[in-house]
Amino acid sequence: MIRSESLRIGVLASGRGSNLQAIIDAIEAGRLDCRLPVVVSDRADAQALERARKHGAKAVFLDPRAYGDREAFDQAMLGVLAEHRVELVCLAGYMRVLGASFVRALPGQIMNIHPALLPAFPGLHAQRQALQYGVKVAGATVHFVDEGVDSGPIICQVPVPVREGDTEETLAARILAEEHQLYPRAIRLFAEGRLALVGRRVVVRED
Ligand code: GRF
Repeated sequence: MIRSESLRIGVLASGRGSNLQAIIDAIEAGRLDCRLPVVVSDRADAQALERARKHGAKAVFLDPRAYGDREAFDQAMLGVLAEHRVELVCLAGYMRVLGASFVRALPGQIMNIHPALLPAFPGLHAQRQALQYGVKVAGATVHFVDEGVDSGPIICQVPVPVREGDTEETLAARILAEEHQLYPRAIRLFAEGRLALVGRRVVVRED
């Protein structure tokens, strides 16, 4: 698919935002032909909001406590994304589970990055889970978001070796460095129209 305009992405982030920064860096360096009009956070103090402002994106804080329930909060978020004509939503360290109506509103248009080789170690503290299990290879996954937790169709993955003496922190840092390469790459595949969903398999057209 040849697009006449750059894909408009929106990022949801709750914290540090280093993956957001990797996306911004890829856009600014011309490695990723996308626009980032808006970043939304559920935390007022998220460093991600600061990174968004520096890039010139709208940085929106939505306070979950201001909404009656998750549905109302999700609807508010969908409103912000629609206002900015977002075509792909990228979760980058977003710590809330999206409700079913949010996911259904944007079919095949929500991605997440997770610091494990899914389906192993979904949920919180993936690196800790990997160390406790004793795996020799950890990694990162970018996947489409479905209504479960870290359970959607896998777009791409990268393995990361576990080293003797690794702590949760050292392993997380090694995985994070790979995440920063992986996420912009997955977004580029989407932007170039190279991803097709066949059942729950993502077929990647490489050319
Ligand atoms: C990353 O490890 C990501 O895989 C996970 O949360 C962390 C977010 O880090 N979902 P950052 O906010 O992008 O720095």
